[in-house]
Parts: sequence; C-alpha cells; structure tokens
Amino acid sequence: MTAEYQVHGSVAVITLNNPPVNGLGLATRTAAVDGIRKALADEHVKAIVLTGAGKAFSGGADIKEFNSPKALTEPTLHTLIKTVESSTKPVVAAIHTVCMGGGLELALGANYRVALPGAQIALPEVKLGLLPGAGGTQRLPRVLGMEMALNMIVSGTPVPSEKLKGTALFDEVYEAGADLITQAIAFASKVADGRPLPRVRDRMVDYPNHEAFLQFTRNTVKAVAGPFPAPIECVETVAASVTKKFEDGLKFERERFLHLMQTPESKALRHAFFAERQVSKIPDVPSDTPTRPIAKAAVIGAGTMGGGIAMNFANAGIPVTLLEMKQEALDKGIAIIRGNYENTLKKGKLTQEKFDQRMGLISGSLDYADIADADIVIEAVFEDMGVKEAVFRQLDATMKPGAILASNTSTLDVDKIASFTQRPQDVIGLHFFSPANVMKLLEIIRGKATGKDVLATAMALAKKLKKTGVVSGVCDGFIGNRMIEQYSRQAGFLLEEGATPEQVDKAIEKFGFAMGPFRMIDMAGNDVSWYIRKRRYLEQPHIAYSKTADILCEMGRMGQKVGKGWYDYKPGDRKAYPSAEVNEMIVKHSADIGVARRKITDEEIVERLVYALVNEGARILDEGIALRASDIDMVYLTGYGFPLHRGGPMFYADSVGLFNVRMAMDKYAHGRHGDAWEPAPLLVKLADEGRGFNS
Ligand code: NAI
Repeated sequence: MTAEYQVHGSVAVITLNNPPVNGLGLATRTAAVDGIRKALADEHVKAIVLTGAGKAFSGGADIKEFNSPKALTEPTLHTLIKTVESSTKPVVAAIHTVCMGGGLELALGANYRVALPGAQIALPEVKLGLLPGAGGTQRLPRVLGMEMALNMIVSGTPVPSEKLKGTALFDEVYEAGADLITQAIAFASKVADGRPLPRVRDRMVDYPNHEAFLQFTRNTVKAVAGPFPAPIECVETVAASVTKKFEDGLKFERERFLHLMQTPESKALRHAFFAERQVSKIPDVPSDTPTRPIAKAAVIGAGTMGGGIAMNFANAGIPVTLLEMKQEALDKGIAIIRGNYENTLKKGKLTQEKFDQRMGLISGSLDYADIADADIVIEAVFEDMGVKEAVFRQLDATMKPGAILASNTSTLDVDKIASFTQRPQDVIGLHFFSPANVMKLLEIIRGKATGKDVLATAMALAKKLKKTGVVSGVCDGFIGNRMIEQYSRQAGFLLEEGATPEQVDKAIEKFGFAMGPFRMIDMAGNDVSWYIRKRRYLEQPHIAYSKTADILCEMGRMGQKVGKGWYDYKPGDRKAYPSAEVNEMIVKHSADIGVARRKITDEEIVERLVYALVNEGARILDEGIALRASDIDMVYLTGYGFPLHRGGPMFYADSVGLFNVRMAMDKYAHGRHGDAWEPAPLLVKLADEGRGFNS
C-alpha cells in the first residue's frame, strides 16, 4: 500500500502510506497522482484532502531511491507537485507530525494547508549538501517571506507548526488533539466552491530593499558555511524567488540543485548519511536478536576514561557505580565528574534538577561485592595486560551470571582478556574515546567468543548512550587506533625529514582535520602513546618509529597536562605555541641520524598522513576487522575529527581514485622507510579493477 483513496461525501481523501515516514518513492508518487486523477474524474468529488498515514505527513524523498534511476522515473516529485498544483478542484494538505523536504514542497503545491500543532516543518536538504530541488526555494518565501524562508532553508532546522501559525503557510493550525482528517474534510467542504483557487506560485515575494538584505545574508552565510557550497547556493536560489519570475526561479533552482548533486561535499555528506544508517547492521546478528536488559552499570577505574564513561550512564538515566582501589582515587574521580557537571550547570546547559538527578545516579565503591548485581561492567584500568587479568578474574568470580563484562582497552587483545574468565561469551570490548562524555564514537570489539546477544545489547546500548557504535574485530588498536598508528608514524618521519610539528598540523588542519597529530597527542598525553610504543618495540622490533616522540617524553614534555609537549602551553589556555626547544631537538635528531632536512610541501604532508590511514584501512577491511569501508569512515568522522566534507578516509580515497592513491604511494615507497608504503592487497586489487572501497 503506498497511498489510499477514499471518498467522504464530496471530499476525496488521499492518504500517503509508505512507512515509516511516507517517503515519496516512485510507487507512492504514482498512487498519489492516480488519486488526484480519480478525484478529478469523479463528478461527486468537489475537493481533495491530501494527508499521510501513521507518523508523518511526509518526510520527503524516499532514501531508498537516492542515487537510483527510480527518483527520476515519472511521475517524478515535480510531476506530482504539478499535478496537485494544477488540479481544478481544491487540494487541502492536512499536515501532522513530520512535513519535511519533498513532503513540504508537495504541501506547498496544494491550494490550502491545515495542520496540527507539533508538526516538524523543515526543508533539511542543506544537511546533505543540497538545496530543496522541487520548488521549495521558490514557494516557501512566497508564504513565509524571504527572511524566515532563508532561515529555514539555510539552516535546515525544523520549526514546529504552531510557530508558523498566522503565516500564509497555514490556513488553519488546529488545537492539539483535534481530529485532523475530520477538520480537514470540513475545511475542504467549506472551500470547495471558492474560485479562483489560491496558488502559492501566484503570490509575490515582497521585500523592500532586498539587495541590501541579501548581501548581508551572503556575508553571514559565507562566514559560517566553511567548505560547504550548499548554504550559499540556498541563499542565491531564495534570492531568485524575489528577482525572477516563478518559472525562471524554478529553472534556476533545478540548475543549482543538479550542480550541488555533483559536488564532492554533497557526495561526502550523503555518503556519511548512509554510512550512519548502515553501521548498525551486522550480517549475522539480525535486528531482532534478543538483547539483555541494562538497568544497572559499573565501571572499574575512576580515571580519565572511567569518569567519562560513568557520566554516559548517568546521562542516560542508568545508575552506575565506580570502583577504585583506593578511596583517594575514587574521591578524585567523582570530584572530576562533579566539576564537569558543574561547568555544564554554570553554562546553563543543565538544570539544577538534572544535575542532582545525574549525580544521584553515580556512586562509588572499593568493594566488588557492591557491583556484583550490575548488568554491565566496563573496565577502564591501566592499559596493562597484567592489571586487566587481575580485574577480569575478579569480575568472573563476583559478577552475577549473565552480566556483560566489557573492557575499554584501546589496544589489547580482547580474546585474551576473555580467556581470563569462565564466560568468554559475555566479554566484549567497548572502546570509548576521550573525552568519553563528549565523543560520539564507540568502537564495539567483537571477540571470537562474544555472544550475539551481547553484541546486540552493546549496539543497543550505544544508541541509548547517544553514541555511534561501530563493530570492530580484534586486532592491535582495532579500527581507529590501528590506522592512526600509521598516520602518527608518518607524522614522526616527516619531522625527521624536515617538517616542524606546526607545519604538519597546519597542513592537515587546512585539509580539514579538526586537529593535527601533534596538537592531538599533546591533548591526549604523550606518555600514553610512549607506553604503547615501548610494548611494540618489544613485540614488533622490526617496525620503525621516529625517536623524536620518545626524546620528547624523556624531556618531560608529556603534553597539555604539564604545560608542554610538542608545543608550549600557558596556564588556563589550550592554545599551542611553537616551541624553540622542541624544534631544536628535532633538527638535532635529524643530524644525529644523518638525515639531511629538506623542504616538505603541504601536499606531501597531507598525502602521507591520509594515505597511511587509507592503506591500513584497506588491510582492516580485507581482514574483516571492519564490516564495511563506510564503517571505517564512520570511525574517522565521529572519533578522529576527519573532515566531514571529505566523507572519511575510504570515501576520500575513492573520490581521489584508488589508481591515483597507489601512484602517490609508489612515490613514497622509494623514499625513507619506504616499506611503510607496501600497498595493501585489497587496494591493489580494487585499483587494478578500477573500483573503489565503497563501490
Ligand atoms: P587513567 O590512568 O586515567 O585511569 C585508570 C584508573 O584505573 C586509575 O584511576 C587507577 O587508580 C584505576 N585502577 C588501576 N588499577 C585498578 C584496579 N585493579 N582496580 C580498580 N581501579 C584500578 O587511565 P585512562 O586514560 O582512563 O585509561 C583507562 C583505560 O582506557 C586504558 O585501558 C586505556 O588504554 C583506555 N583508553 C584510554 C583513552 C584515553 O584517551 N586516555 C581512550 C580510550 C581508551
């Protein structure tokens, strides 16, 4: 069923019915056009009500048809809107719950619009790097005025219907709880004989001195749009609603829409949109896999990560107990949590009531007996297998049967951790990112024995904690850190060869990363990766690293927390100031290892850092550690500040073309540490076949 047709007295009611949000897919469009035709052919019908079944009037384009020829098959959305707009019997759009994108554009083609309060009204296309391409930019200003329409189209933000009461968008906004269809039928009967039929397209957009206002808007929008072209294109098309005739405005809108469809920025945003929808799909764990209830949580270790993880549970309304070895560490951890919430309270982003509620959900203990009945426990103690072993043996001995035993380890073998227990099926990795109460990414590490219900529960928990959960197999560093390792190695080699930390950071930040590698590691703490490297020197002595990072740590420059790392810091200021001492150390180190420093271009920096990610990503994909290339992109977009407008490392490589990526890598394979550029077999294969990771 895609649209129902019923006649009530002299009013035909066409109800879009394409769950979940009545997306305007081909079958729905066809049924709606058929409905209008039927109503026009029936002499007893005097007016038409167009509405949506279930939870929406319409959410707009059917995302299943994105990038599919079906979207362009007749009747297109344009044709449907034209059919509605040229109806010789009045059409009343009866709007409730959700009316967005193409749904709103369709409603704007109707002669009248009536609505319930609380309906979300939006043209959100800009969020996919597009503009409303079915008349929205021309019709919305005609009912809301240019200023309000611009706000909605440039931001894409939904506005509740009751806020738009009194504008020409709505003829009626009823009381909450009113029976929309009964009201709409009554309204349609009332206007059935009225002629001429009002049409949005016949209205004028009147804005005195519009050029001055538009210029102001252009300047403001340019300043905030960053690398995205869509917001400014939205301004230009809305401007056309004032400066051009309706049909010419529509043509202009179409042209700019088609242009935006081809931009890499829109392609990246659409990729990210679909990647986010894919990420929760695990082929052998169907969405109806039973989950375990999570009503009570515990966290072992109240350090940097433990505190942030506990806040996630409190924010989601789940009581959580922090367990530490010493009262002092526990008090310190809870004081930091309190401080964090107090800051949010001071900023007005949390009410006192919520503050009390959240703090009330967090308790502390030194005794495992106090957490024995928790449904999930997340270990966040030191990154040391011996310490983890002791904790997991203890958890195995104390926790109730069926409790999920999770580790927040960032690099260690989750299968080995599981082997310390008699219940490996209950063990999983839940790798939060720092700061854990802020970062969206949650890597969910599936051990070889992890139960499907445990995995399904972890995915559901990620949603509950408002995180993007990405499944990773077990390997050193999982998806994110295993890749960043190669990126960091290149960053280190670049220093030895002639770059400064500032040059490297600036180049990659210009590419769009939120933060370059050296600023990032200064924030995380240089000692953390030093510790991991020391382990790797023993486990994998053949892998080369620049020694500059070790020398930095030997100099006591552990990062922001001690006021000096790769950069200098001033108290209370996170700004990074280049350090003469560090630059001298780097130059001296190059001389010590006999490397002649050379001028390094920004292009080389970006290629070496990003392609190092891509090459390792290809191995991760090939080994099945990541389920999909787009999952890797999600990890990087939500956890590592990879620029959204480039869609993630794998998508970016696809857009450059894997052949070109390989050519660039070949170039570096002839330089220092060329073995780091041994191409991943999957990269070679796909490049040879002229394919991409995502296609
Ligand atoms: P941290 O040193 O800040 O905190 C560890 C806490 O665990 C300390 O408060 C310590 O007293 C406590 N602890 C140690 N042994 C314990 C035991 N046997 N029982 C109870 N408490 C114990 O360390 P951090 O940074 O919070 O890291 C914890 C874990 O999270 C590590 O596995 C780390 O690799 C991982 N991780 C760290 C990230 C970071 O950015 N710091 C990011 C993601 C994961």
